[in-house]
Amino acid sequence: MGKIKMELYRDHFQNYKRYNIPKAQLVIADIPYNLGNNAYASSNQWYVGGDNKNGESKLANTSFFKTDENFNLAEYMHFCSKLLKKEPKEKNQAPAMIVFCSYQQMPIVEEYGRKYGFKNSYPLFFIKNTSSQVLKSNMKIVGATEHAVVLYRDKLPKFRNGKTEDVKGKMIKNWFEWKRDSKKEYPRVHPTQKPVNVIKQLIEIFTDEGDVVIDPCAGSGSTLRAAYELDRNSFGFEIEKEFYEKSKETMLNVEHIVKNEQLEMSI
Ligand SMILES: C[S@@+](CC[C@H](N)C(=O)[O-])C[C@H]1O[C@@H](n2cnc3c(N)ncnc32)[C@H](O)[C@@H]1O
Repeated sequence: MGKIKMELYRDHFQNYKRYNIPKAQLVIADIPYNLGNNAYASSNQWYVGGDNKNGESKLANTSFFKTDENFNLAEYMHFCSKLLKKEPKEKNQAPAMIVFCSYQQMPIVEEYGRKYGFKNSYPLFFIKNTSSQVLKSNMKIVGATEHAVVLYRDKLPKFRNGKTEDVKGKMIKNWFEWKRDSKKEYPRVHPTQKPVNVIKQLIEIFTDEGDVVIDPCAGSGSTLRAAYELDRNSFGFEIEKEFYEKSKETMLNVEHIVKNEQLEMSI
């Protein structure tokens, strides 16, 4: 296998034409949830030390990140329609798009997807064993799930569940455990960082080694890191200087990344 690429651009994904990015087998992104200044509502982080008797913390009335509002879904879908590989003739090769979004955004993502040629979709659920909605826990059932939508044009996307000529392959259900990465394994760069281990599972299902994965809203670079560890080429965009710089210094610093094969060799 040639050299695997992992490139993060500090730019709006809308400016993709400036970069010579190859077409992707998978576009995977966690789009801003447009929560604005309510990001920490019902989380105990709204108060100093998590206790409302102590008064509001500096996170009260703030957003997760400056750009968590007015995200333009039409421009996002346009980007995906241009940068995802064309529909192939063969079966089991079609590209896919995975959009992490809030439960409320799911039908909107599907609607915009259809407008840009992604006629088909199905949901994914991620089950957490904790909830950040502590302050509402005596009033309502608290949220402990994350959501995503898989979108595709016509043919079912490339699907790698272990099936070969001789082996049946495993059935993959539409829910996954949300196992957080340990801090030792991966740096914390972003307030809404997705676990690399979860993203790796998705990349393995929808792509092969050497394929291209793009994350237009890369944040910490978790998707790029996951792709790199699995020998997939990856490209991403992030507009916030702070996330971009920290990601390049830590998450995407190849000198710090020990791939599984290197680990095996040293054992
Ligand atoms: C929900 S976060 C992504 C977190 C990421 N999945 C992770 O694991 O770290 C969305 C990111 O998209 C970035 N963003 C928003 N609009 C963008 C745009 N037009 N182009 C590139 N990045 C954008 C935000 O700055 C934010 O960091």
